[in-house]
Amino acid sequence: MSPPIQVLDIPDHLRPFADDVLDGLSKAQKELSCKYFYDQRGSELFNVICELDEYYPTRTETALLETHGAEIAEILGPGVCLIEYGCGSLVKTRCLLDAMQDPALFIPIDISEDHLIRSAKALADDYQDLKVIPVVADFTDPVEFPEEAKKDCTGKRVGFFPGSTIGNFERDRAVQFLKVVAGQVGEGGGLLVGADLKKDENVLIRAYDDSEGITAAFNFNVMERINKELGGDFDISGFRHLARYNREHGRVEMHLLSLKEQTAKILGRAFRFREGETIHTENSHKYTLEEFRDLAQAAGFSTVKTWVDEDDLFSVHYLTVD
Ligand code: TRP
Repeated sequence: MSPPIQVLDIPDHLRPFADDVLDGLSKAQKELSCKYFYDQRGSELFNVICELDEYYPTRTETALLETHGAEIAEILGPGVCLIEYGCGSLVKTRCLLDAMQDPALFIPIDISEDHLIRSAKALADDYQDLKVIPVVADFTDPVEFPEEAKKDCTGKRVGFFPGSTIGNFERDRAVQFLKVVAGQVGEGGGLLVGADLKKDENVLIRAYDDSEGITAAFNFNVMERINKELGGDFDISGFRHLARYNREHGRVEMHLLSLKEQTAKILGRAFRFREGETIHTENSHKYTLEEFRDLAQAAGFSTVKTWVDEDDLFSVHYLTVD
């Protein structure tokens, strides 16, 4: 075991980022964690991705929630406490809340405090009868259900996890996360979750390598953050964005591919790149309906109902804790 990497002379709040970067770039297959995609600029770029023609998941999932809103609301019942894991633009949440019968409580969980408080407040302003309790935390951690929320929740506890974010976990980690959710919503509780489906590989690749280069910019943003925040000297033009389908693992992978032999220095450490070597930055697993049901079952959930669009692009599942 090599000793833990100690990074000196950087502010405390950058230490986890620095440690993760140095650690990830030291591996045989270099990698950077996808959680560093989402700073202010990254989140803005991601919102643009969601509007792209080639990126079908956002509009397909939103349409599913709209089309089947009444049926979903019927299954969830009244007085629900809705817990959202990760707080994006809340467009889909609003769609769901509009369909629901008298939801009691909304608990968005997100690591980014500013973004969370701002979005939660805007939502609370628009839904006067809904109590909103934002929780600042990493949503993969087992957060205790807030004590003050228990009396307000007269119906089911239901998790909401849209965007096929579940696909960004490796399978074991997805099961682990679903177990955390099952523990939070408890027996009789449920989870409404979006999962992208396996399909023609070219359609998949285009969704992660769009013609306007927005996804490429999103991928490069993590390198730019290293240069800016950690004083790195990556030559960005010496890399290219790569999206490829890994058939064995059933996932789209994103990489940054080195176009030449080069060295990048970060916090006094040098990292060498061969021509053609990549930094793996993201996985997006795709499931068949059966694979997804098996995944849910492995975490103690059973599938009550699945909704799929007519082109078989995307699925939304309502799962309950057995
Ligand atoms: N959950 C989204 C997905 O896997 C996240 C995402 C969309 C994404 N486009 C991306 C992540 C591009 C990284 C790069 O589809």
